[in-house]
This record gives sequence, C-alpha cells and structure tokens, in this order.
Amino acid sequence: MVTVTMKLTSRVQHLGCLLALCFLAQVLWDIPGVWALDNGLAMTPTMGWLHWERFMCNTDCKEEPDSCISEKLFMQMADLMDSDGWKEVGYEYLCIDDCWMAAQRDSKGRLQADPIRFPSGIRHLANYVHSKGLKLGIYADVGKKTCAGFPGSFGYYDIDAETFADWGVDLLKFDGCYCDSVEQLADGYKHMSLALNKTGRSIVYSCEWPLYMWPFRKPNYTEIRQYCNHWRNSGDVYDSWQSVKSILEWTSSNQKTIVSAAGPGGWNDPDMLVIGNFGLSWDQQITQMALWAIMAAPLLMSNDLRHISLQAKMLLQNKDVIAINQDPLGKQGYLLRKEDNFEVWERPLSSLAWAVAMVNLQEIGGPRSYTINIASLGQGVACNPACFITELLPTKTKLGFYEWTSCLKTRINPTGTVLLLLGRSQTFKKLP
Ligand code: GLA
Repeated sequence: MVTVTMKLTSRVQHLGCLLALCFLAQVLWDIPGVWALDNGLAMTPTMGWLHWERFMCNTDCKEEPDSCISEKLFMQMADLMDSDGWKEVGYEYLCIDDCWMAAQRDSKGRLQADPIRFPSGIRHLANYVHSKGLKLGIYADVGKKTCAGFPGSFGYYDIDAETFADWGVDLLKFDGCYCDSVEQLADGYKHMSLALNKTGRSIVYSCEWPLYMWPFRKPNYTEIRQYCNHWRNSGDVYDSWQSVKSILEWTSSNQKTIVSAAGPGGWNDPDMLVIGNFGLSWDQQITQMALWAIMAAPLLMSNDLRHISLQAKMLLQNKDVIAINQDPLGKQGYLLRKEDNFEVWERPLSSLAWAVAMVNLQEIGGPRSYTINIASLGQGVACNPACFITELLPTKTKLGFYEWTSCLKTRINPTGTVLLLLGRSQTFKKLP
C-alpha cells in the first residue's frame, strides 16, 4: 500500500515537473529575445541617422561641397544630433552608407576611406562622433562589390570586421549586392556576424539578407535572427507616398512570416524614415512615423538636419510615439483589419497597454469618419472592462475612458493616420 502511494506520488511529482518544464519552454519560446543574436545590442529598435535616401552617392565635393559624402557632412550632422535635441530623445547612431570608400583597398588589403572626402580617416570621425556622445555606423557589402561599385567584403570578412572594430565603429550595415549565389549570400552574412563578434567590440549588425534571399527562396527568419540585429525585407524607401505605401503593403501581406521574428535584439527593418524631406505630405509623414512605431522598426532618419522644418522635427522627436517604438516588451504590431480603404493596425505594449493606428488610404476626397468597436481592439482584452484612450497623432488629446461595449469615432485625413494609446490609466508612457 505504502509503496503504491509512494509510486503514485512520485509519478504525480514527475508529471508536475514535466508540466513545469513544458510551461518554462513555452514561456522561453514566447520571448523571441532568447533566440536573438547574442551580442546584447538593439534590445529596442536602433535609432539614428543614415545618409542614403537623402544624400545617396554624391561624391562631387567640388560642385556640391555641402551635400557630398564627406567627413564634413557627418561632423555637421553629429553636431546637430547633439545640439538640436535628437540625441536626447534617442537618436544615437550616426550612420554612413555606401560611397565612403576609396576605389581600392590598401597594400595590406584593408578598406580605406576616400582620401579627398575623408582626409582625417574613419577613426578620427569615430572619435569625433563619440565625443558628442553618439555612435558611428558604417557600410560594407557581403559580395564582391558594394551596390555602388566600391570594394566588397567577399574574401575579406575577418579583416574588415577587425578594421571596423579598430576604427571604433559601432554599427555595420551590410548590403547584399554582387553575390554569386544564395549560398554565398547566407554564408557571407553568417561569417561577418561571427567575425564582428570575434573582435570583442559591440557592433550592431544590420543586414539585408532576407531582401536578397526572397527572389530565390523564403528566408529562414529564425536563422537570420540568430545572426543579425535587424534585417531589411523590402526594397529601398524613396521620398514618396507610393514608396511608404508599398512598404506597408509588403509588411502586412507578409506579417504571418515576419512579425513573430521581431523582438529584443532583432528587428524587421522597413528602411529609413524620410520625414523632413520633399516627397511626403504632412499627413503622410504622420503615417510613416506612426506605422514605424507600430512595426517596432529601427528609426533611422535620412534627411538634412541642417534644413528641416520645425513641424517635421517635432514629429520625429515626439516622445510619446518614440516610447511606443521603443517599448521594452518588443513585440511588433500587425494589421488587424482592412475595410472600406481604412486600415487598423495594433501593437501590444508593456503594462497591458496597446497602440492602435487607423489609416485612411483613400486618395480622393476629404477627411472620412471611421468608427470602431472598442471590444475588437487589443485581442478583446485591451479595454476590458475599460481603458483610457489618448490620441497621440495628429494631435495629443486625452479622449477619456472607454468601456468595453462602447465605440470610438475618429476622422482621418486622406493618407493620414490617427495614432491612439490605450492604457489602463491616464498616465502617459514616458521615455525611459
Ligand atoms: C542598396 C541598399 C540601400 C543603399 C544602397 C547603397 O540599394 O538597399 O539601402 O545602401 O544599396 O548603394
């Protein structure tokens, strides 16, 4: 009798342990950060500035001294990131894109900066950027050449990683042009990730691996996440509504594949913020800012901080929207509903809060009303039994308490967005 009881007890205990283990495994599995590239970086999406969309491959410093890719441009941007409040709200990485290199490697096979445009060299620039309390990003390519035709890193991964670490670089954007095969592409991205880690310096690793992989086969995001801190999926952003719209379309149509891949340490990268340039209307700029926050996207501005309107600056420096983007839970949002040319996106946040973005995609007519059942938001739990709703964009307004059974009516401008924060109380989320 005794033995039987003991056996039963130990079996029950065994089962209990198994269940506890299963639960633990489930919890760990649900935290994507566990499986991220283990370099401790990008626990929230990277914020900073990247030259490409606005300045491209302008190497003509004779004709255009103020907008060519040169150390002067980056020093000026560093000064402004420091003095104009950008650093304060989180924009930290000042990133060089393509076209910084000299046409040839040096005699020891190392990459070198163009001597005319970067006369003091990258190490000096990194020191300058660090002296402003910022970090420096640089660009290279996994293949034989960069997309603009400068020396590629193929065959030089270790030496290039060491060079960047030696110069004091803090982020590497690694492009995927001029690869001979998808195997070479994948091997190259992995090799560079390990090479960067081997240097011992903390270097954020920004990849374009899935973008170059998609035409051949569906990328394995679990694997990509183990090697990269963020990864581009879709084509280059342009300074136009058409471009921003197509990136949103790509993201929502592939959300089943990509949303679960994002989390602390690794993020989907829908490309740069083009707010403050020429191509987006005010409402479209609001849409880009709101949706990049919902998508937990890296916030890398590509604009001219020397010439930017106060309005665009206020939008890019909006602390409430940045807090959504940088939410420590690190879960990417998704498209919840699409009807009558409206889209509703939502993102779960820490402290049981939710962000909701409603976009009016109709490009004819004026502002249109959209009414939403509160119960349909936040997987039915965001406002159960009630929540406090604050409109963050276009204008910060406390809308008040809403019960689960109530409706919320908004008016949204064509191609514009209303961004809401659904919280448990009136207190606003603050930047850490
Ligand atoms: C590719 C990338 C861009 C930019 C250019 C530079 O197109 O996707 O973001 O880096 O190359 O040549």
